[in-house]
Amino acid sequence: MEPGEYERMFQVETRHWWYLGMQTITRSLLNRFLAPTASRKILDAGCGTGAAMSTYLAEYGNVTGMDFSPLALKGCQTRNLSWLAQASVTAVPFSAESFDLITSFDVLYERAVASDTLALTEFFRVLRPGGLLLLRLPAYNWLRGQHD
Ligand SMILES: C[S@@+](CC[C@H](N)C(=O)[O-])C[C@H]1O[C@@H](n2cnc3c(N)ncnc32)[C@H](O)[C@@H]1O
Repeated sequence: MEPGEYERMFQVETRHWWYLGMQTITRSLLNRFLAPTASRKILDAGCGTGAAMSTYLAEYGNVTGMDFSPLALKGCQTRNLSWLAQASVTAVPFSAESFDLITSFDVLYERAVASDTLALTEFFRVLRPGGLLLLRLPAYNWLRGQHD
């Protein structure tokens, strides 16, 4: 991502209609599969500037945010998030079976992800057996805009 995009994302992600719509869709999917519990361990892989963690993911358990960009993690720190790791989705710095839920929103199609297969292998490794992976990615090329 272009460096300036992180600041723009930070500014709009708690109020822009697209983010709010995605939050509603994501919550309804999570509620379908997860009962409320505070002890669940969650990894938000490619967490960006942290809005998902600070607005709703924390309701589902203890969330660790991971992103390879220091600019993204700076945004997370500004939101007072402290469980953070700077790393790539292709080399996740956690031991096997560490998480009950992994979320990854609009990350695997990024140019900086060298191999989505490797990323998925890493997600599988750090997810406990029976854990859940929630991936969000664009479905159709015709939805791509200048921004993408
Ligand atoms: C479109 S943003 C989405 C951010 C956030 N998940 C959201 O929904 O707002 C893509 C994010 O993926 C991160 N990213 C790109 N390549 C990555 C990689 N190889 N490993 C980890 N994060 C990566 C970028 O730094 C950026 O924060």
